[in-house]
Amino acid sequence: MKNFALILMSLLMMCCTKDDKAKAATVQEAGKTLVVYYSYTNNCHEIVTSLTSQIQADVMRIEPADKTQKYEANNYAIGTALLNAIKANPNDAASYPAIDPVSITDLSQYENIIIVTPLWWSQMAAIMQTYLFNYGAQMSGKHVALIVSSYSSSISDVVADSKRLVKNVTWMGDALWINNSNHRNRASLIENWLPTLNFAEKQTTMDKMYITIEGQTQTVTLVDNQATKTLVEKLQQTPVTVTLNSSGGFEIWGTLGFSLPTNNEQINAQPGDVILYNGSNICIFYGTNSWSYTRLGKIDGLSENQLRTFLKARESNISVTLSLNNTTGISSVRSNTESGVYYSLNGQRVENPTHGIYIKNGKKVIL
Ligand SMILES: Cc1cc2nc3c(=O)[nH]c(=O)nc-3n(C[C@H](O)[C@H](O)[C@H](O)COP(=O)(O)O)c2cc1C
Repeated sequence: MKNFALILMSLLMMCCTKDDKAKAATVQEAGKTLVVYYSYTNNCHEIVTSLTSQIQADVMRIEPADKTQKYEANNYAIGTALLNAIKANPNDAASYPAIDPVSITDLSQYENIIIVTPLWWSQMAAIMQTYLFNYGAQMSGKHVALIVSSYSSSISDVVADSKRLVKNVTWMGDALWINNSNHRNRASLIENWLPTLNFAEKQTTMDKMYITIEGQTQTVTLVDNQATKTLVEKLQQTPVTVTLNSSGGFEIWGTLGFSLPTNNEQINAQPGDVILYNGSNICIFYGTNSWSYTRLGKIDGLSENQLRTFLKARESNISVTLSLNNTTGISSVRSNTESGVYYSLNGQRVENPTHGIYIKNGKKVIL
């Protein structure tokens, strides 16, 4: 029935075909985060340790060039003098106390930055002000959050300092204030604060998918549309295995088991084309057919004969796995007793996981 309808419709609509240029399907994943901090008496250091046990982030500690200073001596005289110099000439680099060269000089890889600083005389500690004076401009366009540690003073002037030194950013939530009386509860304060932040996501380009049939894997270059974007998001969670059947002497096709967004148009499908039919069926072509379809992509670099072999043309019940890794996927997940150990989706142990999807303690986690 489907074949008859296909032939009839292809005669009617053969004239208006359109070839999409293969482009990237863009998906979102969590952006990279940097925690930058200064700490004189290690309270901020302890805050950062709690923070980075809860989020995945790179960490950079700012150090003064002069490590002999006792900021608290003579009623905090040196600390006061440093702040007064900045206040007198806030736009002059010479007003800021020197700091050691920083380990990360290029912030372009980060979407999110969390600044952790002590409060000095109700202002931002002078050493952190130097860092932000030098590098605040690089934070432009990023998502930035602030944690302030004080003995008891409130932090509004530190917030004002941060806004003077770091401009054109999206401030994430309200600054978190941790003081002497609640410092011991810093882990739960941070845990409650983190969900109030709107972390930036990173646009990632995913323009490849893999098709595996009986252990043979071929690459598909995806087009950029809502259907491929949704498909990639699904495949980021887990590979999808479908059972396809040959049909019409030009394709193997069958249900995906879920629907994707359609933008159907008349397409003259060619060998290698991977196509969405009726929103929830995938068709992989080894011949040609004209129909109203949504294009998903094209198998790279196989001749028509090679496609017929790979796709098991004219066979039935062909098990086809779609994935973003060159793998047949995970059939089961064995939980391990080594808590904190991460595995990639294809089962390999990952020592230092960065952003992405991993298996930890038998569960999928997104970093
Ligand atoms: C020079 C200096 C000035 C300070 N001024 C204040 C202040 O005005 N109010 C306050 O509550 N705490 C003040 N503090 C205390 C620090 O804000 C507090 O101990 C903070 O937790 C220190 O963080 P750290 O251990 O990471 O350096 C001051 C500390 C220093 C060194």
